[in-house]
Amino acid sequence: MLQLSASVLAADLANLAAQARWALDAGADMLHIDVMDGHFVPNISYGAPVLKCLHSALPDAFYDVHLMITDPNKYLPDFVAAGARLITVHLEALPDAAAVRQTLGAIRAAGCKAGLSVKPATPAAAVLPYLDALDLVLVMSVEPGFGGQAFLPQALDKLRALRDACRARGVWLEVDGGVDAVTGPQCAAAGADVLVAGSSFFKSPGPAALAAALRG
Ligand code: DX5
Ligand code: ZN
Repeated sequence: MLQLSASVLAADLANLAAQARWALDAGADMLHIDVMDGHFVPNISYGAPVLKCLHSALPDAFYDVHLMITDPNKYLPDFVAAGARLITVHLEALPDAAAVRQTLGAIRAAGCKAGLSVKPATPAAAVLPYLDALDLVLVMSVEPGFGGQAFLPQALDKLRALRDACRARGVWLEVDGGVDAVTGPQCAAAGADVLVAGSSFFKSPGPAALAAALRG
């Protein structure tokens, strides 16, 4: 079943817990936490202390943590302790195949689901060697770093290229960036299992209707 992960990057961060509660009440299945370090991407968002507070306020939510950071290994324990249930790292942040496997293994060993993400310029095939070691592949449909960007339609080809291999292994296929009532159903038709929605969801006057529309 298609799941919706609400990216709180687009929320009113002064009222984060209330906004997260609102998103879950409106039909989001999980909360997407975009962590940016100003180095791997040209923007800084928030880190494990913010997740820890949000997790204290909403302990039962599923936290889908997207690490857009240069040194994910250094910070994994902090995010695990803060309440992450799924941690996604970027293939481009890791130097070689051994490092990718080591990182995915460390995430799983800590009791979380492990995700691997690719930026728009990275070919879909780059994740295939790791499918046995992960729970989710995240296809970026914008350049990571900012919310509110336009969806890059090449992401649909990437989803189509990955859907069968992911399904065969029970790996979730997630898409992130520019997902709205038009592009969301396109992504679902192309094979996405998890839609990340930030701006479209938090700026919507009718989030429950939008959640239904995103699910097609
Ligand atoms: C971008 C982030 C996205 C972002 C999505 O770097 O990874 O999760 O919050 O935001 P929208 O839905 O506004 O494109
Ligand atoms: Zn994200």
